[in-house]
Amino acid sequence: MLEVRDLDLFYGDAQALDDVALDVGEGEIVAIVGANGAGKTSLIRTIAGMNRPARGSIRFEGAEIAGEPSHRVCNLGIGQVAEGRQVFPTMTVRENLELGASLPRARSGAREMMDRVLGLFPRLAERLGQAAGTLSGGEQQMLAISRCLMGRPRLVMFDEPSLGLAPTIVQDVFAIIRQLNADGFTIVLVEQNVAQSLSLAHRAYVLESGRIAMTGTGADLLDDPGVRRAYIGL
Ligand SMILES: Nc1ncnc2c1ncn2[C@@H]1O[C@H](COP(=O)(O)OP(=O)(O)OP(=O)(O)O)[C@@H](O)[C@H]1O
Ligand SMILES: [Mg+2]
Repeated sequence: MLEVRDLDLFYGDAQALDDVALDVGEGEIVAIVGANGAGKTSLIRTIAGMNRPARGSIRFEGAEIAGEPSHRVCNLGIGQVAEGRQVFPTMTVRENLELGASLPRARSGAREMMDRVLGLFPRLAERLGQAAGTLSGGEQQMLAISRCLMGRPRLVMFDEPSLGLAPTIVQDVFAIIRQLNADGFTIVLVEQNVAQSLSLAHRAYVLESGRIAMTGTGADLLDDPGVRRAYIGL
């Protein structure tokens, strides 16, 4: 579904991605792990069309999208749940969701998707008229995920979806990602909970200083002594 090759990204003179190659097959959960500053967010933002790569190819369902603007990438079916629970705080839950459906690809199916999303997140259904900024942290993350789904993505990229959430809510977030995958969404997952994201992922990539250092099944990387030492602390 997604095929990244020879990808280089610079911020000024500083290279953030160096010759990155990565594949995501339809129906997979693919995790990207790496230390702070390794380039995980940079990679997601480059795929999403928010960073312009200096070199390389990004193909989504056969179409070249490297360097395409983000609205066009979104409209092809790549959704992103950005770091830090990006909701519009003064808008209501319903308005946030409607905004998610403003993509051309999503307009016709908005009502059906709203029903589906509210079925998945009954807490949001009870709070449709409430200002998003007054939701709890966990509820805001559910709303951020829901707003992304309203755009009818086929591939959903999550950047640190559990960051700053209470442990019980973290479990909910992982359960939701598993559910979305079972419902047919393909997933790219960047997570600080490396052990959990590797156990959830079919395959994973380790990013070190902008380069892919290792790749394998989630289970293989979870068993790898180097990965455990560097990212799991065991
Ligand atoms: N807009 C920017 N301008 C300049 N440098 C940037 C910018 N965004 C990121 N960087 C640099 O690029 C490198 C990769 O950052 P990135 O945010 O992609 O890392 P990350 O793996 O997501 O880290 P974290 O785990 O802390 O979120 C870092 O050295 C960072 O300082
Ligand atoms: Mg990041």
